[in-house]
Amino acid sequence: MYAFSSLNSKKLVTSAWRPLFLIPWTRRMTMEIRIDTSVSVRFKPEDWLKPIPIADCFDKPRPIEIDLGCGKGRFILARAHAHPETNFLGIDRMLRRVRRVDRKAVRRGLSNIRLLRVDGYYAVSFLIPPQSVSTYYIFFPDPWPKKKHHDHRIFNREFMDAMHGTMTADGVFHFATDHLPYFEEVLKIVGRDVRFEKTETFEPCAEEKTDFELMFIDEKPIARASFRKVS
Ligand SMILES: C[S@@+](CC[C@H](N)C(=O)[O-])C[C@H]1O[C@@H](n2cnc3c(N)ncnc32)[C@H](O)[C@@H]1O
Repeated sequence: MYAFSSLNSKKLVTSAWRPLFLIPWTRRMTMEIRIDTSVSVRFKPEDWLKPIPIADCFDKPRPIEIDLGCGKGRFILARAHAHPETNFLGIDRMLRRVRRVDRKAVRRGLSNIRLLRVDGYYAVSFLIPPQSVSTYYIFFPDPWPKKKHHDHRIFNREFMDAMHGTMTADGVFHFATDHLPYFEEVLKIVGRDVRFEKTETFEPCAEEKTDFELMFIDEKPIARASFRKVS
């Protein structure tokens, strides 16, 4: 199940189904745990307080794209299938959803997907290394419609700072929502931020429409926007 090789502590990550404490310390010091994608594409960082050597979590070095709040995974699964030249990281805080996407990724043999179950803001702020992400997809983030809950929304100045720091020089992010007031708010937040400029809007093909979008496709207008990091 595991491949062992010489020590590279930066590469030490554990897959979700084998906690690190089950592995003797002496063994941990001399091994690199690879993620066995025929079993699971989920992983846990060994150290939740440091950036993950994210490129090392994939089999091959390729551009890294993140689906933040990947939900039930329709988008990331289709996108990863269509783009084997890219590595995809799906992040969601709901364990049930992450497990479900994991099972589907394994069943479909998608070795260019990895999954992390963690809060998205925390991941972008503390776990994703600087200048490592070429694209963020933030599709239908929870809009928290009540005013008293607006603080829970993911888009704010701190999130923009964190996202900017983790994006490559030509990085982009794509945003979609069915909640038009939230869309306007995000446009304002990003519009005030000179580090980003609007770019061609990402339109998913039929296979890449998210689970959430499919539920409401005929009922509500969907607003989308894409932004590029200004070099
Ligand atoms: C409305 S659903 C949209 C899911 C998916 N993007 C889609 O369009 O089908 C929002 C998803 O974001 C996840 N989520 C909400 N807040 C999050 C956070 N702070 N960190 C990580 N995931 C979050 C939820 O668990 C849920 O799966």
